[in-house]
Amino acid sequence: MASLTGAWAQPAPSINSGGIVNAASSAPGAPVAPGSIASVYGNFLLSAPSWALGIPLPTSLGGLSLAFGAVEAPLLYASSGQVNLQIPWELAGQPPAVTATLAGQTSAPQTVNLAPFAPGIFSMNGQGTGPGAILDSSYHLVTASNPAAAGITVILIYCTGLGAVTNQPETGAAAPSNPLAVTITKPSVTIGSVPAQVLFSGLAPGSVGEYQVNALVPSNAPTGDAVQVILSIGSATSNAVEIAVQPPTPDQRADQLLTQMTQDQKIQLVYGAVGTATASTRGGAGWVPGIPQLGIPDLYLADGSVGVGNGVGPATALPSSIASAASWDVSEAYKYGSVIGAELRAYGMNVNLGGNVNLIGREPRDGRTFETKGEDPILAGKITAAHINAIQAQHVIGGIKHFALNDQETGRTTADVRIDERGMRESDLLAFEIGVKDSNVQSVMCSYNLVNDVYACENQHLLNDILKGDWQFPGFVMSDWGATHSTVAAALAGLDQEQPDNAFFGSLAQAVSSGQVPQSRLDDMVHRILRAMYATGLFDYPAAITPIDTTGDQAIAQDAEEQGAVLLKNAGGQLPLNAAAAKSIAIVGSHADVAVLSGGGSAQVVPTGGPALTEGYPCPPCWAQVIWDPSSPLQAIRAMAPNATVQFDPGTNPATPAALAAASQMAIVFVSQWTSEGMDLPSLNFTDAIHSPPIDQDALVAAVAAANPHTIVVMENAGAQVMPWLGSVSAVLEAWFPGQRGGEAIANILFGAVNPSGKLPITFPASVNDLPRPVIATPPDSTTPFPVDYSEGFNVGYKWYDSQGLTPLFPFGFGLSYTTFSFSNVAVVNNPTSGNPNFQVTFKLTNTGYVAGAEVAQVYLAFPASTGEPPKRLVGWQKVFLQPGAAEQVTIEVDANDSSHPLSYWDVNSNAWLIAPGVYTVYLGNSSSSASLVTAGTLQIGS
Ligand code: BGC
Repeated sequence: MASLTGAWAQPAPSINSGGIVNAASSAPGAPVAPGSIASVYGNFLLSAPSWALGIPLPTSLGGLSLAFGAVEAPLLYASSGQVNLQIPWELAGQPPAVTATLAGQTSAPQTVNLAPFAPGIFSMNGQGTGPGAILDSSYHLVTASNPAAAGITVILIYCTGLGAVTNQPETGAAAPSNPLAVTITKPSVTIGSVPAQVLFSGLAPGSVGEYQVNALVPSNAPTGDAVQVILSIGSATSNAVEIAVQPPTPDQRADQLLTQMTQDQKIQLVYGAVGTATASTRGGAGWVPGIPQLGIPDLYLADGSVGVGNGVGPATALPSSIASAASWDVSEAYKYGSVIGAELRAYGMNVNLGGNVNLIGREPRDGRTFETKGEDPILAGKITAAHINAIQAQHVIGGIKHFALNDQETGRTTADVRIDERGMRESDLLAFEIGVKDSNVQSVMCSYNLVNDVYACENQHLLNDILKGDWQFPGFVMSDWGATHSTVAAALAGLDQEQPDNAFFGSLAQAVSSGQVPQSRLDDMVHRILRAMYATGLFDYPAAITPIDTTGDQAIAQDAEEQGAVLLKNAGGQLPLNAAAAKSIAIVGSHADVAVLSGGGSAQVVPTGGPALTEGYPCPPCWAQVIWDPSSPLQAIRAMAPNATVQFDPGTNPATPAALAAASQMAIVFVSQWTSEGMDLPSLNFTDAIHSPPIDQDALVAAVAAANPHTIVVMENAGAQVMPWLGSVSAVLEAWFPGQRGGEAIANILFGAVNPSGKLPITFPASVNDLPRPVIATPPDSTTPFPVDYSEGFNVGYKWYDSQGLTPLFPFGFGLSYTTFSFSNVAVVNNPTSGNPNFQVTFKLTNTGYVAGAEVAQVYLAFPASTGEPPKRLVGWQKVFLQPGAAEQVTIEVDANDSSHPLSYWDVNSNAWLIAPGVYTVYLGNSSSSASLVTAGTLQIGS
């Protein structure tokens, strides 16, 4: 047998047929272009793999070389089965075939499918399709889970085949010794067909095999998870790979803008410029001049709790915010907020100073009660969030205020509220927490008062720890007007913008340059203000001043009043009045011939059409005007009862209206209680804060009721009242400050065109002696902080009366209807045993009366005694409209993860909301009074 010896005995390397693959962009067999990185598969007879160790690339690895005609290819890697190489630039004139040579033995040539010179982008699937090997500047893949931000993100495109400037393949010139390190042609980049700015192209750092092209994703690039990226050089284009692109977030846009700002420009945004020579407030309460060269618009700040306030211009006077809360209907509340937002925008105002969510149940004599949403943190928080969502939908920055515990006006700038951590977390702060979390509100106004010895606007615990820390509030904190007391302390504690001027933040630049306030803190302030502007669309939807929609907005105002008025008493079915049977009606008091009352102070709206009447500037507060809105209950009642004789008496002297009432079939007495920012009421009686001498309205009602048993009282007031005459009148309607369609709404309710469905968002106590503080704490002087002891903690409103065993005049959640409802088949389901403490209360609600109407089904929860919680807490509700005789199966969901923490208590040891094990009792009914609640079931949580 012959033995094989000699050179011919050494086998030649071989290349697989079709075994040349563009490593970046091509599927097997697809063309490869000069300059691109390719893999060649075959049998290369190498015993061990070897790698190029750097630039220049070798043309031989382990003795193996690959050549295109006479041109040897630069090699990156060689093993027995695979060689990675760069297709040489200078292939022009060479055969489209490749051979491998090892130890003098050369393979048969394999045809190469040579493409014209073209770049290729590496892809993640190795097929040149799908997601590309494209990173952001943090070296994370740009895919759906990490999208690029249009206009912001610079993407790093890893690619090959970019060619050499000095050595274009077309020239046929000799290859440079270091083909991968040469200056390369700068390719063009399109992202979603939109040309992108190319910031860099070159060898990928640390790589011998890849190029990198950096490009800015254009701001007008299409968005989505599969936006195509294509490189081109001249007419040669790459494969298309995909990245995910999203619009930039407000934070990303703010960061980018911040990089372009000078220190002076930054400082300009952190305080108001009211009072400066150039001030131009458009009639609002505040103004922050913008920076036109950077496209930053001016901020125009206006109050707007019950409609557009300040001197902005005539606006729709909505009923009080507390009336909106009394609807217990977040979709109604959204409509209410939309009027404020739309009218602010129409006037060119872009920041709303609204969202008063102070829990005045602690102090129902508070003069600002009409601006608030009552005493319960959950109801108040949810209604406020609905208002803010609607306002911000109009591209107006919403606000929530006054943070925090600003529950009395007496000595408001020096009141030092003392309260324990759990007490505030579960009461006033909870209302803010819900408002902030459920609305994405972009500004928070810190309050005048001190909290536990520290001014609210420099209160590290309130601002940094709780608001920005625990709740992750991303927007900015502005001071109430003149509530800033320091530069460094306030800046470090979390205040972002001083209003209305720069009494303290005027020195901020100095504080930063001296190192007392870090530059990063100033940048954070500006970032927060800019991100708020981006988040609400101030850049993208510039102000467009237009007329307001008077008719549409007034219709919403009337609807809000009709949904929010609360029928408190209706003895013997006195209401609704029968228009056909009504022969003579006496209307008494409160300028009901021409107007309805509104609340005073910064929330004051100048109604469209102008006030019906103004009555000076009562003292206190000595600066707020009394404005009566142009809506005549008398006329509206006459319109409802055209066949009746309807006469008016102003009620200034009880004798004459009593005579009119005696001669009439029925009497309707309008009693009113003006209140304002800057004052608290001396009592809960209908005192008269406007006239001197005051009109004794309690005596007026008593006199009329004595003259006619069919006496109906309509109350125009802010909140809780005591009613010494209650037993002698037949019906009472709480109309709140009813807004400029109040007369029409009241008449509709009195005559049954609208069935009342409002429920009290505030307890009416039997006496001021039942309040946590029968006497309001008063300041010793105008400058010395004085303690206001909130020792009742979280026991605000009904929780207070429950905990003290006090029976109120009217309970929280109470309100009558012209129909009746029944609850049946009441059950608690998904009774949790552990882990997932959510539950539903299910029941059938039936309208058992004769007219259509709405009931507010309320769910209260009693916690295990071990928690020390109040006797019960509102945890859910639903307002249900039903035709007479109709029934609906209703489910009220209570979710432990809701922003209202319905199943948790604040644990001071772990500084967290915790769910305690034990037995919980679930109540269902139509007010917080035990008498109106049934036990829906119990829950056992834990063991
Ligand atoms: C009030 C704020 C109001 C501000 C601007 C202050 O007196 O407390 O609620 O937003 O003035 O009008």
